[in-house]
Amino acid sequence: MCGIVGYIGDRDISSVLIVGLERLSYRGYDSAGIATLSESELSCWKKTGKIHELSRFIDKLSIKGQLGIGHTRWATHGPTTEINAHPHVCGNGKKIAIVHNGIIENYASIKSDLQKKGYIFRSQTDSEVIGHLIAYYYKTEDSLLSAIKQCISKLQGTYSVAVISELDPNKIICFRKGSPLIIGLGSNENFVSSDINSIINHTKDVVYLEDSQIAIIEKSTVDILNESGKSVDFKVNHVEWDPNTSEKSGYDHFMLKEIYEQPHVIRKILSKYVSNNTIQFNHIDNSKIGLDSVRRFIIQACGTSWHSGLIGKYYIEKYARILTEVDISSEFRYRQMISHGNDLVLAISQSGETADTLACLREAKSKFFKVLSFVNVKNSSIDRESDGVIYSYSGQEIGVASTKNYLSQLLCMFLFSIYLGQTRGILSDKEYSDMITSVNRLPEYLEKILQNADKIKTISDKYYLSREFLFIGRGYNYPSALEGALKLKEISYIHATGYAAGELKHGPIALIDSKLPVVCVCPQTETYDKMISNIHEVISRKGKTIIIATEGDTRVKEFSDDIIYVPKAPDYLTPMLVSIPMQLLAYYIAINLDCDVDQPRNLAKSVTVE
Ligand code: G6P
Repeated sequence: MCGIVGYIGDRDISSVLIVGLERLSYRGYDSAGIATLSESELSCWKKTGKIHELSRFIDKLSIKGQLGIGHTRWATHGPTTEINAHPHVCGNGKKIAIVHNGIIENYASIKSDLQKKGYIFRSQTDSEVIGHLIAYYYKTEDSLLSAIKQCISKLQGTYSVAVISELDPNKIICFRKGSPLIIGLGSNENFVSSDINSIINHTKDVVYLEDSQIAIIEKSTVDILNESGKSVDFKVNHVEWDPNTSEKSGYDHFMLKEIYEQPHVIRKILSKYVSNNTIQFNHIDNSKIGLDSVRRFIIQACGTSWHSGLIGKYYIEKYARILTEVDISSEFRYRQMISHGNDLVLAISQSGETADTLACLREAKSKFFKVLSFVNVKNSSIDRESDGVIYSYSGQEIGVASTKNYLSQLLCMFLFSIYLGQTRGILSDKEYSDMITSVNRLPEYLEKILQNADKIKTISDKYYLSREFLFIGRGYNYPSALEGALKLKEISYIHATGYAAGELKHGPIALIDSKLPVVCVCPQTETYDKMISNIHEVISRKGKTIIIATEGDTRVKEFSDDIIYVPKAPDYLTPMLVSIPMQLLAYYIAINLDCDVDQPRNLAKSVTVE
């Protein structure tokens, strides 16, 4: 989704901005642009398509400048055109350039007021009103900063904005509400970005701008103002970052690399949360979130994280016997929450920035719910605003389609559920300890599945021309089927539907014919026999079955068109095991179709607008 980068200092401005934009590109975008200030003169370049289109164009020019801002746009208001790309340049005489992430909800009324005053809009975006508003207020205010303050007072919606201008040419001014902005501090140079990844190669000292703050960034100083315009002290965070996570390390795609990283990631999580056969979440203050007295969890999340939440419900209800509801954040946000007291909201998010999940967190807190979050990105908005956080420790995930973080979330949800089960006396010491022993074997099971990748590739070669797929599963593996279908449609653009296998006969069975591949998630769990009956319903209608089964299961072999084995393991581990074959199936099908698996069309890694 949209990304912002900005720089002030002595380095080559266009290369800092272009590299910064490249490092934002994993988030998804459809156009890009930069604006620079050189000797008080503002220039701007924009292109649709990939960043290399922009950099090829810029390479021919000799761009000088002491400061600049750049943007990757993911279209919301107005199609993908050069005019709609950011930066937007406005101004009455002296130019102002702005880049914006988020959505200005009242842009239509601001635009119509400004048009009546004679302002000419070039783009169809909501963002352009910001530039014109600043220009408008500059006519009556004595400074760019004052004009920006007036502009902010008129904006409704979510935004992170960076501004440069010929009116005040030695600074970048930024502000935010509901959308992240990070300031990177260097020596005699400073940076700004909406995503730490785009500046981390230059500095690890960062400041997270808070909502309603304004940052005035000069070459050797940073001043942060609060809502009332007073300078405030700010905390400088030193960020730990493994640069290898931003490299493909010999793999063809980040997605494939991230699939293969899963055994390592699982070992890491286990080393963080399990020691001496005991699960510990020492960093959470149980009394602060009322964990010991919780009687209902409300899980809210989007996309793949929602699927983790659905499986989390099975875990928590089974092992901790606590009522758990699961909601898609965009739905949860607009329904009237009923508090029973002793409720705890669980927000699940890889990025920690998903707009709907963040909005639900805020909505819940405003209604006095406590929020415990499962987050991957440390210091993200959800991390900072939650009452407690369980980190999923999967490292940076670059592929837009979530793989390793999904598995991490499942493991964290599982550990959390048995931790609760043990502390509440639902699980006996033996059950608890046996579960920890088996979960410790997870990395070895995953490695074994990955050794079978060639088999999965062969299956994908057979089916990649199918235009639709059905995924079915039961129990824990009903959400697995939803996730398998999501993965396939995200990266291959093939229509895929996930269903609870028991629901087959209530509608989707009508789809089945000899051309439809049906991925049957059928490891040996307590719903195995029921699942076999559902598979027979598919076969009777001549559907093609790709069965994910437990090693040694000869029964399913008899009636499968294709079979992928996962190691024999307890029920609760099966959603983690079956996820890898489905990720690989989606990956190889997408590769066969020549799709851009790391940056699928229209999708964004971090969805920061509602
Ligand atoms: C986007 C991504 C998905 C992700 C979802 C939720 O749609 O493309 O992969 O599952 O957002 O993101 P979150 O960061 O909150 O887990």
